[in-house]
Amino acid sequence: MEFPVTVLSASPHKNGATRTFANRLVESLEVHDVHVRLLDLTEVGRLRACVGCGYCNKSGKCIFEANERASEPVSGFSALYDALEQTQMLVIVAPVYFAGPPALYKAFLDRMQPFWVQRYMLQTRPPLLHSQRKPLILAVQGGGGDPFGYEPLVTCTKSAMRMLNFELQAVVDCIRQDHGDQENLPGLLQTQQAVLDILNSTLPAEEETYE
Ligand SMILES: Cc1cc2nc3c(=O)[nH]c(=O)nc-3n(C[C@H](O)[C@H](O)[C@H](O)COP(=O)(O)O)c2cc1C
Repeated sequence: MEFPVTVLSASPHKNGATRTFANRLVESLEVHDVHVRLLDLTEVGRLRACVGCGYCNKSGKCIFEANERASEPVSGFSALYDALEQTQMLVIVAPVYFAGPPALYKAFLDRMQPFWVQRYMLQTRPPLLHSQRKPLILAVQGGGGDPFGYEPLVTCTKSAMRMLNFELQAVVDCIRQDHGDQENLPGLLQTQQAVLDILNSTLPAEEETYE
């Protein structure tokens, strides 16, 4: 499998703490010989948000998809979708904005709607058994915390990503108490450990060979 693990940086900010965390996570996983690919919502081209037009209700496809696929390389949600279909495991590193997802990340999540249609209306993409779902980890980035927490971010992620057959298995609180300090990355080791634990428990052992 080319990329058993994908790390998705889900911040609208190209060079913020979220991306720094994602970079460091990738580096630390590579040290453990994990094949990992880094994706960034700011780097896939224009990610058009769902407008609830209803086009997918009949076709099972997003009205924006044809344009995204016509570009070279494939851009926007379609590019991310292709990568996520291939991966075995996903780590989403997402900042919390007022307890929920930032608009760019929510735009990405809402583009799962055609898969909801395929599953529940057209029944062309039936749900998978629990054991066949792919593991998902959410590393929540924040600065200073908020009295309302981040449960809406977790719920939106869990609900939308299920449409691509991901199962949220761990949420790591990476909220920094010091607003300005982007070098201190709480939750980095816990996220790395959560990935390694899931990999050890789910991926088949390499076939033994005789010298
Ligand atoms: C509009 C907005 C709302 C935010 N709301 C919260 C919040 O509810 N809880 C929190 O801990 N941090 C909150 N923050 C801080 C960010 O989550 C934090 O700075 C995070 O690192 C931003 O990601 P970035 O470094 O990729 O820009 C908020 C920031 C913005 C801009």
